[in-house]
Amino acid sequence: MGTADDDAPIFLIGFMASGKTTVGRLLAERLDWTFVDLDKVIEDAAEKTIPEIFAAEGEAGFRKLETATLREVAKRRKIVVATGGGAPCREENIDTMLQAGRVFWLEVSAEEAVQRAGKESGRPLLDDAADPVAAARDLLAARRPFYERAHGHVGTSGSSPKEIVDELLGQSMVIGLVANDEVEPPSGE
Ligand code: S3P
Repeated sequence: MGTADDDAPIFLIGFMASGKTTVGRLLAERLDWTFVDLDKVIEDAAEKTIPEIFAAEGEAGFRKLETATLREVAKRRKIVVATGGGAPCREENIDTMLQAGRVFWLEVSAEEAVQRAGKESGRPLLDDAADPVAAARDLLAARRPFYERAHGHVGTSGSSPKEIVDELLGQSMVIGLVANDEVEPPSGE
């Protein structure tokens, strides 16, 4: 039996290529909740890709759409939301998430993020940088204080998506979010 709070959204935040989408999908599957990719909702509404939105409206235009979309998505229940790397880095946005549900930070280093993202990643902030690793280091340093405000935190280096999901489910139970009966036992047990 869950309380209303048990159904509150789970938000995954963290730097680009920290695995939010892969982990979010898997986590939603385990909970039998809906997975929402915030960037995809923005792209579908704008009928443009993220690089096209950046090209047409600049980063500022993208951030406006991101804030408005997040505000709407946060009203839903039983969803796991993968947010874009910059989404929590506005007071308004991180407040929206912290108030609406539970927020988990998937941590990755700048070097690993750039390596995982690869070239032409579809992420203008990396693709357009002369030195992507330097750009990622600067961005991550500026964003860390926002990421650190998450309710929970998981390091991703050397862990499989399944291991990260298990860790998130464990942390969710500790903070009273997920009712035990909603979680399938890990296979093999
Ligand atoms: C961004 C991250 C991207 C996307 C956009 C901006 C950022 O999402 O929202 O390119 O500012 O870090 P991912 O974190 O899923 O790559």
